[in-house]
Parts: sequence; structure tokens; C-alpha cells
Amino acid sequence: MFRLICLIRLKLFWRRLWGCRMKEVYDKIWKLARPYYEKGRPMDINHVEWMIGDAAIVCKKEKLDDSILLPLVILHDVGYGVGEHVYSDKNLKGKYMEEGSRIARTLLEKIGYPKGKIKRIQDYISVHDNWIYGEHEIYRNDLILGTFTDLDYMWMATPKGFPALMKVFGYSKEEMIEFLDMNEKLENRPFVTETVKRLYESYMKDRRAEV
Ligand SMILES: [Fe+2]
Repeated sequence: MFRLICLIRLKLFWRRLWGCRMKEVYDKIWKLARPYYEKGRPMDINHVEWMIGDAAIVCKKEKLDDSILLPLVILHDVGYGVGEHVYSDKNLKGKYMEEGSRIARTLLEKIGYPKGKIKRIQDYISVHDNWIYGEHEIYRNDLILGTFTDLDYMWMATPKGFPALMKVFGYSKEEMIEFLDMNEKLENRPFVTETVKRLYESYMKDRRAEV
């Protein structure tokens, strides 16, 4: 019994130590990525900072690999820091996803991130908005990519994301809620985990109460 308690304590200790070490790594990635976001779209810093927090919650609850999802979240829109501010232009999205993938590799190599993980993160960044081209299966078939796109979408229901997107689209609060309620995402790329679904419902409840 004593041995079992010691083993559990040791396991918890290593888990906490590993969690602290990874947090330091993600902070380093964010520090390197931030200058790109400062040159990017006006809302991007708030967008990514919020996403990091909720992604960490979802990883913990759903036992997802945060060493892939967190860098993906931190770096996914980094490509917009080197050119035009693109929101939904089909012709330019692909170009900026590729640009983002290239920058992500440079930044992750700089901190010595594992090569295999860099490749996976790069691959995800290069297709992260491919729903715009009618590709939906890639999100349904991959829990990391599916969770990523759920979080990316959910930003539009958050206290800072909702008014930021209202401004971009020129919508009133009511129109923004209708846009989210009727969005093709909900049908074509349903939320892949219960945790994200519950978080989204909670954000929407708050937004509806503000109308
Ligand atoms: Fe995004």
C-alpha cells in the first residue's frame, strides 16, 4: 500500500514538472510568434491569447496531445504577419497558410522542437482553413485538427471575438448571433468533443443575454 502511494505521488510530481516545462516551451513559442501577430490583423493577438487558454483546458479534459495542439494554436495565423490582412479571400488563404507553415518551422527549429512534431504542426497549419475550399472530412477524421477548428470558430462567440467580428462583417449583435446559429460549420464540421461543445454553448448563452 505504501509503495502504491509513493508511486502515485511520484507520477503526480513528474506530471506537474512536465506541465511546467511545457508551459515554458509554449511561452517561448508565443514570444517568438508575437512580433508577427503585431504586424498581422488587429484582433489576432487577442484571438491567439484566448485560444491558448481554452486549448489548454480542452487538452486536459479530453486528454489531447498539447505538444501538438498548443503550438498549432499559437502559430496557426502567423502567416498574416508578412502581408495583407486576409479574412475570407479564397485566393489568398492558401498562400498565407503556406507562409504560416514556413514561419512556424523556422520558429520551432529555433527552440529545438522535436523534428517529427514540427512536421505535423506544419502540415496542420498548411490546411487549417481548408474548410473554405469545401474540405470537411479532414476535420471530422482528426481529433487534433477538429478540436483546432472548433476553437478557431468558437472565438467568434467569446467576449472579445464577438464584437471584433461584428466590426469585420458590419453586423449588429442580433445579426452576429444569427450568423453563428446558421453557420455551415455546425452542420459540416460538428464539434468533435463534448468539452468544446459545452464551452461554445456557454459563450453563446452569455452573448444572447447581452442582446
Ligand atoms: Fe485563427
